[in-house]
Amino acid sequence: MKLRDELRGIVPQDLLSLVPSGFDIIGSRSGAVAIIEIPNELDKFKYEIAKAIIKNSRNVKAVLRRIGPRSGEFRLYSYEKLIGEVTEVIHVESGIRLMLDPTKVFFSPRDQYDRLDLASRVKDNEVIAYLFAGIAPYAFIILKHKPTVRLIYAVEINPEAIRYAEVNVRLNKVRGKVVPVEYDASLFCEKMRNSFHRVIMTLPLGAHQYLPSAINCVMDEGIVNFYHIGPEEDPFRDAEEIVMKHCSNMSVNCRIINERIVREYAPRVYKVRVDFEVNKRQTTHT
Ligand SMILES: C[S@@+](CC[C@H](N)C(=O)[O-])C[C@H]1O[C@@H](n2cnc3c(N)ncnc32)[C@H](O)[C@@H]1O
Repeated sequence: MKLRDELRGIVPQDLLSLVPSGFDIIGSRSGAVAIIEIPNELDKFKYEIAKAIIKNSRNVKAVLRRIGPRSGEFRLYSYEKLIGEVTEVIHVESGIRLMLDPTKVFFSPRDQYDRLDLASRVKDNEVIAYLFAGIAPYAFIILKHKPTVRLIYAVEINPEAIRYAEVNVRLNKVRGKVVPVEYDASLFCEKMRNSFHRVIMTLPLGAHQYLPSAINCVMDEGIVNFYHIGPEEDPFRDAEEIVMKHCSNMSVNCRIINERIVREYAPRVYKVRVDFEVNKRQTTHT
């Protein structure tokens, strides 16, 4: 039953249209957290809204109200806890298990199709630098679909995310294949020049600042999966220009091999992925 129908008779008729039509659920049958945005006009009814969610989704143990946009270097939302105390869950996605607490680490279930798409492009034996890895969901999906991948370094600065990534390595039985590294992405790349077949850059609001680092640590003919945001009218243009500018500054040849709209990021703004190949050998002209 829809949340709005459930709240008929509790929320006044003139405010019913403001009741959100959806919310995110992170977790699984063993326990889940619901995350919802409630407009200020419905403030008085927030606990009734939370109770209605719990009544209809028996696995939901806690309801969090999202306050404002993601912020800070760990890219976290602020939440108001409406019901429930425990917010640590095991989320199940495409056959992998991810332990996390959304109040402490970044995670978005809305990226699941992008994870599958990226995983379908990875080749045998790749050694991958997964920058801005959070709890490392892309790494586990990649290995599920391509077990022949040699090694994935999951590089992340949030210590809580690293702790969950380590738990998830054990949960998904990929010890020795995924290595969580608590390190700044640019420092990591500085130490690991020309080392990776692929560099994944899942930080849409800031990855562009790290493009020189990614280009340094990818090997000749390696691939960079670059995330950015762009307006509905021309979602890829900014990302393409930034990529080409950095490649030119660093005197490497880059070729865009694939572009993808990941999902809506804000009204009329998309999160996009631009995949490009880096050729580091200089062409000599005689
Ligand atoms: C948008 S989240 C993506 C997390 C994960 N890849 C996912 O899809 O769930 C970006 C992550 O980058 C981390 N981060 C931000 N700046 C960083 C840096 N300089 N080096 C390493 N990680 C960083 C944040 O803590 C956050 O967990």
